[in-house]
Amino acid sequence: MKNIATTSESLAAGKALLAVLLVLLLPGAVCAVITGPCSGCHAMHFSQDGTILAEWGSGGPYGALLTDDCAGCHTGVNDGSAPYVNSTTAPIYNSSGSIGNIPAGGSFYWVNQAQGDARGHNVDILSTADATLSVPPGFEAGRDAADGSRVAGGNWPPGQQVSCSGLYGCHGTHSVADITAALGGGHHGSLSNDTVTNPGTVPYVGFRMLLGIAGKEDPDWEYTFSASDHNQYKGVDDPGGGSDSTTISTLCARCHGLFHSPINEMGTSSPWLRHPNDFDLGNSGGEYANYNGGSGYNNLIPLGSTNITTVLSSPTVTSAAGEAIITCLSCHRAHGSPYLDSLRWDYAAAYVPGLTDGFGGCAVCHSSKN
Ligand code: HEC
Ligand code: HEC
Ligand code: HEC
Ligand code: HEC
Ligand code: HEC
Repeated sequence: MKNIATTSESLAAGKALLAVLLVLLLPGAVCAVITGPCSGCHAMHFSQDGTILAEWGSGGPYGALLTDDCAGCHTGVNDGSAPYVNSTTAPIYNSSGSIGNIPAGGSFYWVNQAQGDARGHNVDILSTADATLSVPPGFEAGRDAADGSRVAGGNWPPGQQVSCSGLYGCHGTHSVADITAALGGGHHGSLSNDTVTNPGTVPYVGFRMLLGIAGKEDPDWEYTFSASDHNQYKGVDDPGGGSDSTTISTLCARCHGLFHSPINEMGTSSPWLRHPNDFDLGNSGGEYANYNGGSGYNNLIPLGSTNITTVLSSPTVTSAAGEAIITCLSCHRAHGSPYLDSLRWDYAAAYVPGLTDGFGGCAVCHSSKN
């Protein structure tokens, strides 16, 4: 990793080179390559005039002859040009969902630089190990990943940290240990605005290079957002999680399996044993039919859908039409947030009826409970 200014410059420069050339078709995804000087991102010998250039990371040489590691290239202040999922200065996070400069997944900043372990994932190349959690809560030994390989072979060694990608990671394939190789050339084959209906088992075809996961990608990673401008997450109406392994919640369930399945751990209807995921609000009627006060999609509390080919600004919530699916990301940010348990709003704040308080986010769906 290197300092933020040079990182931002080099990533912005790399991004500026990303003109689109349509080259090949892979299952269900729009695929293209990045182009421009290879030297924007690769260094053949990790040496120039006998030295390491200032815009390269200081810890190289790196795999695939890259000029930096994932953390180096993905640390910076968001401006919509590239997904900066980490920062050395505080990102702007507004839990009302109105402004801010975080990407959709949130930021590792709060785990690394600020409040600590409980604010999100302690990724190995960024953070020290989580002092409290040595395995993923709810890890279900032997849980199948979408590609048939098992995350960490179905056995998470205590103390093992989560990685960006690979065997213990979220992106890429779990059958390849090396975090760069696990992406399989994804930076050249996957763009930021793919509509992934059929992710298959090619590491990088998935939504955001998440193997086997479907979804519609917002081109600027939700740097700008509104009811009609957001990622469209994949969800299905199946709280047991067995019928479709391409939903965003099944990604999380690869490591947090008990929170999504099997059915005896979740329940199938009220009274639930754990909060339902991959469950359509439209099944319930009543207070849920008044999601967000009836004014359409709320970016703070996203709803997934079964068909992800269009961005839904007014999902149907009054009947189970597959447009109002609860996902893990309805309540959590994938990377990190300023709040405990990487939640999208401050659930730990005191409950004061009628106010946008600790219960505020919950009340967007549980609309009669506030
Ligand atoms: C914007 C940054 C960027 C630019 C520009 C870039 N690459 Fe890459 N390339 C990457 C990253 C990041 C990886 C490793 C992660 C991955 O596979 O997605 C990679 C991986 C590779 C790989 C190994 C994976 C594979 O597909 O076999 C090759 C080979 C490669 N690049 C060649 C090139 C060449 C040749 C150019 C110039 C035409 C180029 N790259 C330009 C970022 C870039
Ligand atoms: C040399 C710089 C560089 C390195 C190293 C690099 N990335 Fe990237 N990455 C980029 C850029 C630039 C983009 C934005 C590409 C675009 O606009 O589509 C990107 C995009 C991504 C995306 C989003 C893809 C999408 O569909 O929107 C993911 C996920 C990602 N990188 C993961 C990684 C991981 C994991 C690593 C380490 C194994 C890594 N990157 C290493 C420069 C880099
Ligand atoms: C590859 C495995 C893996 C995947 C996939 C994964 N997690 Fe985790 N998760 C972990 C591990 C390991 C921990 C405990 C250590 C830590 O926080 O890094 C954890 C911790 C958490 C925590 C508690 C945070 C804390 O530190 O107290 C939350 C919340 C969480 N994960 C949510 C999610 C969500 C939501 C997804 C899907 C977007 C997801 N996880 C996907 C491995 C994973
Ligand atoms: C995306 C919408 C949504 C959000 C956000 C949400 N819930 Fe729920 N919740 C539901 C739905 C739908 C059900 C299932 C209702 C049913 O069974 O008909 C449910 C069920 C529950 C139940 C179980 C009720 C029972 O009868 O077993 C509890 C308790 C609960 N939620 C609490 C919360 C809390 C606390 C929060 C905030 C941390 C929250 N929910 C956030 C939609 C949501
Ligand atoms: C309705 C909102 C909601 C949904 C949906 C939701 N969570 Fe959570 N999650 C919470 C809240 C609130 C907490 C912390 C307090 C608590 O457990 O009540 C939490 C805590 C966690 C923790 C930490 C548990 C621990 O032992 O410390 C993990 C891990 C986690 N969630 C993962 C997931 C995964 C994976 C999914 C999807 C399968 C998911 N969550 C869906 C609201 C939600």
